Amino acid sequence: MLLKDRVAIVTGGARGIGRACARKFVEEGAAGVAIVDRDRAAAEAAARELDPEGERVLALAADVTVRSRAEEVVELAVSSLGRLDILVNNAGIAGTPGPLASQSEEDIDRIFAVNVKGPWFFCAAAHPHFMRAGYGRIVNIASIAGKEGNPGLVAYSMTKAALIGMTKAYAKEVATDGILVHAVAPAVIETEILEQVAPEVREYMISKIPMGRVGRPEEVAELVAFLASERCSFSTGFCYDISGGRATY
Ligand SMILES: NC(=O)c1ccc[n+]([C@@H]2O[C@H](COP(=O)([O-])OP(=O)(O)OC[C@H]3O[C@@H](n4cnc5c(N)ncnc54)[C@H](O)[C@@H]3O)[C@@H](O)[C@H]2O)c1
Repeated sequence: MLLKDRVAIVTGGARGIGRACARKFVEEGAAGVAIVDRDRAAAEAAARELDPEGERVLALAADVTVRSRAEEVVELAVSSLGRLDILVNNAGIAGTPGPLASQSEEDIDRIFAVNVKGPWFFCAAAHPHFMRAGYGRIVNIASIAGKEGNPGLVAYSMTKAALIGMTKAYAKEVATDGILVHAVAPAVIETEILEQVAPEVREYMISKIPMGRVGRPEEVAELVAFLASERCSFSTGFCYDISGGRATY
């Protein structure tokens, strides 16, 4: 069992990639998983599905853009589940699609709040717990858009590049403290977020994938589980490709 007795927080864990990560963590023996999502009903449904006995999976409703709530849910997760070993910053939005000049300042502010400030709030809130334990694993769900840029998704690409930058810098700050910080960069993964993406942008993204297909949330969860485990020990600050070969760097 890769994650035996570990405790994790997964933001945006109510559906898609986040839910697949939460499921994988439970399968790998995690002692506790806190699903943090702004959609309370979906978070509770996911928790019930993954843990019908209600012993190991906790649903916590929160908007990751509210710093005081991020701090509260980290404390709640630690007090309810007993410790914290893993943080997966997965909650994210694609934003309003369209060319750069069509985006409003409000669009840009909102997507940065969810995709960049949210992960920063959660890293900052989890930091003292990881430091005290001398152990932590953080996985930030970035995107191939942050490595290569996707036309029609300029704002989204900006936020994911920022998240990769935060991953690299924070990883270096805590490299000798037992805290490993990684990002993963998925290409197109079959989830509901794709409903926010214009069909032609989706086709463009699939056409760039050498494997010629979309990915599945479970495939991303496999990589995240390894990066969240103690078996990952001599790597930090890296952004791992999970894009069917699109970004082999
Ligand atoms: N699906 C893809 O093709 C793809 C590709 C690359 C990267 N990603 C990234 O993976 C992550 C998960 O994407 P997904 O496809 O599973 O998306 P999804 O839309 O299926 O799920 C996202 C979850 O995050 C939650 N969420 C959104 N905003 C939130 C907020 N402010 N506070 C709390 N919860 C919030 C939603 O309620 C939802 O449950 C995102 O960061 C996304 O950018 C997805």
